[in-house]
Amino acid sequence: MRTYLVTGGAGFIGSNYIHYMFRKYGNSIRIINVDCLTYAGNLENLKSVEDRENYTFINANICDSEAIGKIFAENEIDRVVHFAAESHVDRSIKDPEIFVKTNVLGTLVMLNAAKAAWELEDGSFKADKKFLHVSTDEVYGSLEEEGTFFYETTPLDPHSPYSASKASSDMLVKSYIDTYHFPANITNCSNNYGPYQFPEKLIPLIINNALQGNKLPVYGDGKNVRDWLYVDDHAKAIDMVQEKGRIGERYNIGGHNEKQNIDIIHIILRTLQEMLSEDDPRRKNVREDLITYVEDRKGHDRRYAIAPDKIKEEIGWYPETMFEEGIKKTIAWFFENEEWMKHVTSGDYQKYYEDMYGGK
Ligand code: NAD
Ligand code: DAU
Repeated sequence: MRTYLVTGGAGFIGSNYIHYMFRKYGNSIRIINVDCLTYAGNLENLKSVEDRENYTFINANICDSEAIGKIFAENEIDRVVHFAAESHVDRSIKDPEIFVKTNVLGTLVMLNAAKAAWELEDGSFKADKKFLHVSTDEVYGSLEEEGTFFYETTPLDPHSPYSASKASSDMLVKSYIDTYHFPANITNCSNNYGPYQFPEKLIPLIINNALQGNKLPVYGDGKNVRDWLYVDDHAKAIDMVQEKGRIGERYNIGGHNEKQNIDIIHIILRTLQEMLSEDDPRRKNVREDLITYVEDRKGHDRRYAIAPDKIKEEIGWYPETMFEEGIKKTIAWFFENEEWMKHVTSGDYQKYYEDMYGGK
C-alpha cells in the first residue's frame, strides 16, 4: 500500500486534499498527516477521517528535524505532499520571521529527511518515490497588463515576505532537483477558495462578515485581480502531477478565472441573497453599503493570472469548477458549518481582527 506523508494537512488546502484522496483511493492508500496546529491548523477539518485505519495524525513541527526524521525512519514513505507553511500575506507583512522559519527552514528539513530516507549508496534514489512542493503564483510577482500571464518560465520576482519565503523554498527544492536529481515537483497555484478556508482570507472573511452585518473591508481601490480556483480542482491537480508529471518539472495551476476583488464581493453578496430564504434573519444583514474601502495592503500585488497550458497539455488537468458553481458550494458549506465558523472566529481571531481592521 502506498504511503503519503502530507504536511500541513490540518489547514485549508491540506484537509481538502486529504478528503479528496480518501474519496478517490479509499483504503488503497495510507496517509500520515504531520501538522503542528498553528492558528490555521484545525483538526475539526478532519473529523470524518480521523477514525480510518489508513489515516494517522502526528502533531509535529516541520522545523523539528528529529521528529520528521523519526517519521521517515518508522514508515516507508512513498509520496510527500508538502503544504505546511505560514500562508497569509498580511501576517507576513507584520511578522516575517516565522515565515522564513516555517517556509524556508521547514522545507529544507523536509527535503533532507526525504533525501536521507530515499537515497541509495550510489547517490540514486529508490524507485517510485516522489516529493511535491506546493507553492504559489505569488512567487512570480505582479502582472500589470491584461492579457499577460505567469508561465513556468516567468522569472521569480516576489514582493511580500510571504512570497519571498515561498520563492526561497521553491529555489531550495529546485536546487535538490538540480544537484542530487532528487525526485521532486513544484506546483505554483493561484488563489484557492472552498470549504474549511480560514476567515482571514478574502472569500470566507466576506461571507462571514456579510452574514453578520459587519463591514466588508476592501483594500485600496478594490481593483486588484486574483485568479480563483476551487480547492477540489487544486487537490486533483496535485494528485495528477504526482501520478503523471515529469520528475523535476514545475507546473502552474490556475482557474482561468480572473476577477477584481470588488467583483468577488458583489458576487458573494448576490449569491448570499439568492441562497438565503426570505424569512432567514441573516438576509437583512447582507448589504452592499457595508462595503468599506480601507487602507491598501503594503506592496499589494496588482494582478495574478496563471496560464495553466503546460499542465493541460502534458497531464490533461484543467479547472473544472466554474466560479458561479464553486462559490455556491462554498457558501452552502459555510451555511452547513456555522459551528466550525464560530469555533475558528472565537479567541485569537478576535484579537487578530481588531489589530488588522480595528474592530467591526
Ligand atoms: P493554511 O494556512 O490554511 O494551512 C497551513 C497548515 O500548515 C496549517 O494546518 C498549519 O497548522 C500548518 N503548519 C504551519 N506551520 C507549520 C509547521 N512549522 N509545522 C507543521 N505544520 C505547520 O494554508 P493553505 O491556504 O491551506 O495553504 C497550504 C499551502 O498551499 C501553503 O504552502 C501555501 O503557500 C500554498 N498555497 C496556498 C494557496 C491559497 O490560496 N490558500 C494558493 C497557492 C498555494
Ligand atoms: O495567489 C495564491 C495566494 O493566494 C496564496 O499563495 C496565499 O497563501 C493566499 O493567502 C492567497 O493570497 P492573497 O493575498 O491573494 O489572498 P487574500 O485572500 O489574503 O487576498 C485576496 C485579495 O483580496 C488581495 O488582493 C487582497 C484583498 N483583500 C484581502 C482581505 C483579507 C481585501 O481587499 N480585503 C481583505 O480583508
